[in-house]
Amino acid sequence: MLNEKWFLESVENDIDGLAEIQKRICVSMEQLEIEGKYEKKEAAVKHHFEYVRVAIKLLTEDLGLYGVNDHLRDLLKMLRVIAEPAPYLKVFIPVIREKNEEWCDVIEKENDILVNRIQKLELKISKKNSHLSIDQKNMNNKDVPDQPQLETPPSLTVPPTNSQGNLEQVENSLVTSVPEMNFEINGQDSLEDLRQKFFMNLEKSLHQQNQQFTKCFFDGEATYLQSDNDLSNYKIVKNGYEFETQVKDFETIFLVESTEGLKMTVPKIDFDNLSEYVGKPDEKQTMIDCTRKRVQKEFSPPEFVERKSMMLHLRKFFDSKLEEISKKLENTEVSEEMKNDLNLEKKKIEERVQKLPKHDKYLIVSMAGSFCNVHIDFSATSVFYHVIVGKKIFYVAERTEENFEIYRKYEENRLTIETWIGKDLKDEWERIEINAGQTAFIPAGFLHMVFTPENSIVIGGNFLQEEFLKSHFKLTRFEDELVRREIQRKEEAFQDFWNAIFCYVKNIFIPKVKNDGYPLTVETTDRISLFINELENGGKAEWYSLTEKEEILQNLRSLTSTSTSHIDSLKRPTPSNSETNDDDESILSKKQKLCESSQS
Ligand SMILES: [Fe+2]
Repeated sequence: MLNEKWFLESVENDIDGLAEIQKRICVSMEQLEIEGKYEKKEAAVKHHFEYVRVAIKLLTEDLGLYGVNDHLRDLLKMLRVIAEPAPYLKVFIPVIREKNEEWCDVIEKENDILVNRIQKLELKISKKNSHLSIDQKNMNNKDVPDQPQLETPPSLTVPPTNSQGNLEQVENSLVTSVPEMNFEINGQDSLEDLRQKFFMNLEKSLHQQNQQFTKCFFDGEATYLQSDNDLSNYKIVKNGYEFETQVKDFETIFLVESTEGLKMTVPKIDFDNLSEYVGKPDEKQTMIDCTRKRVQKEFSPPEFVERKSMMLHLRKFFDSKLEEISKKLENTEVSEEMKNDLNLEKKKIEERVQKLPKHDKYLIVSMAGSFCNVHIDFSATSVFYHVIVGKKIFYVAERTEENFEIYRKYEENRLTIETWIGKDLKDEWERIEINAGQTAFIPAGFLHMVFTPENSIVIGGNFLQEEFLKSHFKLTRFEDELVRREIQRKEEAFQDFWNAIFCYVKNIFIPKVKNDGYPLTVETTDRISLFINELENGGKAEWYSLTEKEEILQNLRSLTSTSTSHIDSLKRPTPSNSETNDDDESILSKKQKLCESSQS
């Protein structure tokens, strides 16, 4: 049986020698197909996979040892051609699928993983290459202007007054500077030694001047920051159609190369018309301003987000309620008394809509050199992130308990701690470059830091998902505690989280469970229990009185007791008639029903 060791011994770590092996694999696979010897498929496919795996490994090593050169680039291109269309698999898969679908699924998945790793290696090479060409140009090293903006997500960060001059200055200085690490490089240093020095240098400059940290980060990140561990926190897909096919439980990060199929509307913003969207450069902006009408009007999130976002569901619910009321108000047969009630109800809903958290649509304008330090997005929200102009570089670390504990320790001591969390997690970082036109989808709870190498305009949104409730509650409780201890500002947290959750449970979750019918799925039962446990000890939720909150909880509890005796539930009134199915229109609905019955 062949394995990686065999391949390595055969080619003596010589990447060129591998090409000959691949040729032989190709011939034998074609031969098997001609002869119809599909039973030998496993050995043939295994050969192919081993070849791709070893080739990736050798190319990665060569990259570390010799840097980028044309030969390396050609070999990688060849590998991509061999792996991506997977001609060898295409020969077998359709024939085998009829007999063994499971086997085909596994094989296709394995191939996807390998193609993904090749794509990442290409990205790494392109970045290293751009550094190399800058180096070769030997351009003048200009100083980075004072204090590049630190970006607080999700935020509306705008360039300072006299913005254009500053933007160009920062951009030029970053793009044309000669990579110059502020540490001594010894000829004998291994790549790992240089990484150590890079991290130590970053840590040292963290508490000194922002510009020093940013410059060190910019110059060294592509070479030293990314871990060499075999990480697979993200997948690259071509477009929205591929994303929808592969997203499944949204367990990993996705980088979508084109907006096609995402069903998202992107406003046509650039640096020339930016003021039309965010106001004039000298106009003061708040950090979080999600109400700019033009952005709101011209920007709609991807369909996936519309489907998953709890807050968007809530917003749609209230919108339809308002539409319903408007229609009733237009009805000339409605009595004056009823009209007054309808208007009161309308006002109440409008006030509620106004208060709903607005994190699902935002615009970020960042100067080149902006850096957002390691964090988890507030309340462990999921996020989508579309780059309209410029480029963003994310470094992400996996969602493990260990990583979270490191983060917890840092956050709790963030005002006094001297060390840099990025260094503690140095073996965890995976680099994701998001270029103009691309969209990243990041599920709940990933630790990340963001660097902006070019002036950038981004649209995006943070959203809560029922699938990630556990993470949302866990991080919100942690953040509430940080706010209570005055370590974190209230504005940095998800606004009105507990209010929004009570509101969601009352208006969306409970009616949905009732409409879905019984018996309940395990997933739904788990969510009900989680809501009960968390809301019983919920944080501040002043939208509802104590009695109203208890009523919501009681309705939640009744869902589980009903699920255990679902036969009884069949006799229950339908949700629309149920007293426990109150929504924010409940009083009016009851009044109307009384009125209707008295009329009849
Ligand atoms: Fe973030």
